[in-house]
Amino acid sequence: MVKEMRVQSNPILSFHKNSHVFVKFAVCFVLVGLAFRLLFSDSALSIGLNLPVEPPSLAAADQQETESSSSSASDSSLFPVQTQNSTVVDFPGNNSQTYGNFAVKCDLFTGDWVPDPSGPRYTNESCHVVESHQNCMKNGRPDSEYFYWRWNPRDCELPKFNPQSFLGTMRNKSWAFIGDSISRNHVQSLLCVLSQVEQAVEVYHDKEYRSKRWFFPSYNFTLSVIWTPFLVKAGIFEDMNGVSTSEIQLHLDELDKTWTDQYSSLDYVVIAGGKWFLKTAIYHESNTVSGCHYCPGKNLTELGFEYAYRSALRLVFNFITRSDHKAFVFFRTTTPDHFENGEWFSGGYCNRSVPFKEGEVDIKDVDAAMRNIELEEFEKATAEGSEKGLNFKLLDTTYLSLLRPDGHPGPYRQFQPFAKDKNAKVQNDCLHWCLPGPIDSWNDLVMELLVNGGKYR
Ligand SMILES: *[C@@H]1O[C@H](CO)[C@@H](O)[C@H](O)[C@H]1NC(C)=O
Ligand SMILES: *[C@@H]1O[C@H](CO)[C@@H](O)[C@H](O)[C@H]1NC(C)=O
Ligand SMILES: *[C@@H]1O[C@H](CO)[C@@H](O)[C@H](O)[C@H]1NC(C)=O
Ligand SMILES: *[C@@H]1O[C@H](CO)[C@@H](O)[C@H](O)[C@H]1NC(C)=O
Ligand SMILES: *[C@@H]1O[C@H](CO)[C@@H](O)[C@H](O)[C@H]1NC(C)=O
Ligand SMILES: *[C@@H]1O[C@H](CO)[C@@H](O)[C@H](O)[C@H]1NC(C)=O
Ligand SMILES: *[C@@H]1O[C@H](CO)[C@@H](O)[C@H](O)[C@H]1NC(C)=O
Repeated sequence: MVKEMRVQSNPILSFHKNSHVFVKFAVCFVLVGLAFRLLFSDSALSIGLNLPVEPPSLAAADQQETESSSSSASDSSLFPVQTQNSTVVDFPGNNSQTYGNFAVKCDLFTGDWVPDPSGPRYTNESCHVVESHQNCMKNGRPDSEYFYWRWNPRDCELPKFNPQSFLGTMRNKSWAFIGDSISRNHVQSLLCVLSQVEQAVEVYHDKEYRSKRWFFPSYNFTLSVIWTPFLVKAGIFEDMNGVSTSEIQLHLDELDKTWTDQYSSLDYVVIAGGKWFLKTAIYHESNTVSGCHYCPGKNLTELGFEYAYRSALRLVFNFITRSDHKAFVFFRTTTPDHFENGEWFSGGYCNRSVPFKEGEVDIKDVDAAMRNIELEEFEKATAEGSEKGLNFKLLDTTYLSLLRPDGHPGPYRQFQPFAKDKNAKVQNDCLHWCLPGPIDSWNDLVMELLVNGGKYR
């Protein structure tokens, strides 16, 4: 948000060099808090509000989710996850070395975006589940260059998602995306790719259309998205326009039952969190108020969002590792936004039309801090989980997503925003992803981790 950090050739290492970040947060807190305050007190501004808030229309629109398959879910959990030092898994110039009993192919998350003339695997015509705010084609986004790239891990080939094979391995299974509106964005990408094989039947939605469930009849496969932006229990006092009437009350020692109640029925989960923790919130622990994040005038201890996010993730991972139920668990790292020359509330925009190359972009401090917390907590959880034979996979999409400033709706979150006035001032969305768009590659990665998971890390 304020100061930025250079991404060097090894994103994993460079993210970790960022300890000075925490000093800067003293300043950041105030600014972030102020931003959200503005957001919540101004209904006009908050309408689109992409970043930390769930765009209201997203909630009302149609959504979907899906994800990929499974198979070799056995050996990988024994291999220690090396999140802080990628040199252990990254073998430049050699696609498959044997490492102990495991063939380590490469680090899937280090690489470049390379031209891909084959283009998107679905369109706004072939997929009916893209919600309006991410339907950039329909909304009139004029350029289409952003379709023609694929993620190319430095030291190995990443096969494209195969919907037949995915659905085949998902026979009789259930899969859920657990998180915020980015998880919904992801689910829609998966549903679109799967719709080439079978159209899913929507079998459930909650009142606000934020959580949904679909069924693939030929495969007896259930796919759902569970909206739980904090993963822990939270009192959220927001109307459908994202306008808040009171501070969020966050219970840092209690998980959100919305997802934990369903956990034992799920074979595969993709869990993610992040951006919502930047909001103003009052923190509760042991039935008392323990502090807050950005609550001036309340005479409470500022604990910082890192404290809350770390507490929440610990609780999530403890629940999973201690559960009698064994699901295949993906944890997706935080997703960066690309607002330039402002934030979402102050005229920030994202009008680039090609990806960044390595070294051309800085990760924002808040994203670096969140990802560091994620990696640290994930690593601890994997160590504990592997003793119990659990499958944990890190879906480390932060860096590859950071390289795609061109993949967001920008002004085209609205239908034909410039139809009436070429100079119209419209709210930009530089956080969610156009569909089709770069987020489709997340499914390629999920599929590869499912099919060949034992070879990575
Ligand atoms: C990463 O691993 C290499 C090789 O084992 C080691 O030399 C280096 O010090 C490690 N770096 C960090 C940051 O742990
Ligand atoms: C990887 O390295 C080993 C040993 O150096 C070599 O035998 C093997 O052919 C290499 N594999 C590839 C795919 O380059
Ligand atoms: C799909 O997008 C095109 C523009 O690329 C638009 O003309 C068409 O109406 C859209 N179709 C649907 C069903 O939204
Ligand atoms: C799916 O469940 C049905 C009914 O229980 C069973 O007959 C079938 O073998 C199962 N298929 C797989 C791949 O598990
Ligand atoms: C569908 O899958 C469930 C397990 O998820 C199984 O209990 C059920 O028998 C399956 N039904 C059919 C018709 O295969
Ligand atoms: C703030 O809280 C502290 C400790 O709870 C208390 O001692 C102090 O009187 C409070 N200050 C105000 C202005 O309420
Ligand atoms: C993006 O928008 C800014 C401000 O309107 C403009 O100066 C710049 O030329 C635009 N860049 C591209 C690539 O269109």
